Amino acid sequence: MKKIGIFYGSTTGATLSVAEEIAKQLGVSPADVHDVASAAPSSVGDYDVLVIGASTWGAGDLQEDMATFLDGVSSLDLEGKEVAIFGCGDDSMSDTFCNSVGEIYHRLHGTKAMFIAPFNNDGYDYSHSESDVHGMIVGLCIDNVNHPDETPARIKAWVEEIKKEIA
Ligand SMILES: Cc1cc2nc3c(=O)[nH]c(=O)nc-3n(C[C@H](O)[C@H](O)[C@H](O)COP(=O)(O)O)c2cc1C
Repeated sequence: MKKIGIFYGSTTGATLSVAEEIAKQLGVSPADVHDVASAAPSSVGDYDVLVIGASTWGAGDLQEDMATFLDGVSSLDLEGKEVAIFGCGDDSMSDTFCNSVGEIYHRLHGTKAMFIAPFNNDGYDYSHSESDVHGMIVGLCIDNVNHPDETPARIKAWVEEIKKEIA
């Protein structure tokens, strides 16, 4: 069975709660759920599947702990690993909604990891997001500010996609 590690960067706890729910649904133990504020970049080497998520801050910036963590991860060789990306944002920030998802994708692009589990952003109302890479939303986007009621179904659908792809 593939070993799954979840890595999250969260400033006010929203991404943390999404990470915990993903862990529950994927059957990942709390010991394998890492706050990147205190995780070594090399710890990604312990896993076959990396589920990586962070929120968006400032004017579309990647959450700061994740930015620092990925400074260390982006130079690693992750060939053979599968990466699923998620993030939290606010679609009223219409030009930068969940940019973090795209930012994580771009920063890991040179690692040779394989990206899995794209997402469908139907139901959100925004004009631009870096999570959209050539027409594909490259990871789960969650908005607990404006659409909290839709979060459980979005997480569930995305986790099912991960399960299918890593089977
Ligand atoms: C000052 C500020 C700037 C923000 N900038 C963005 C943004 O550019 N794009 C976006 O989608 N969300 C933005 N957000 C919303 C946060 O990403 C959202 O509240 C998220 O749930 C926070 O997650 P966290 O608690 O895990 O850090 C911003 C929020 C604040 C307070």
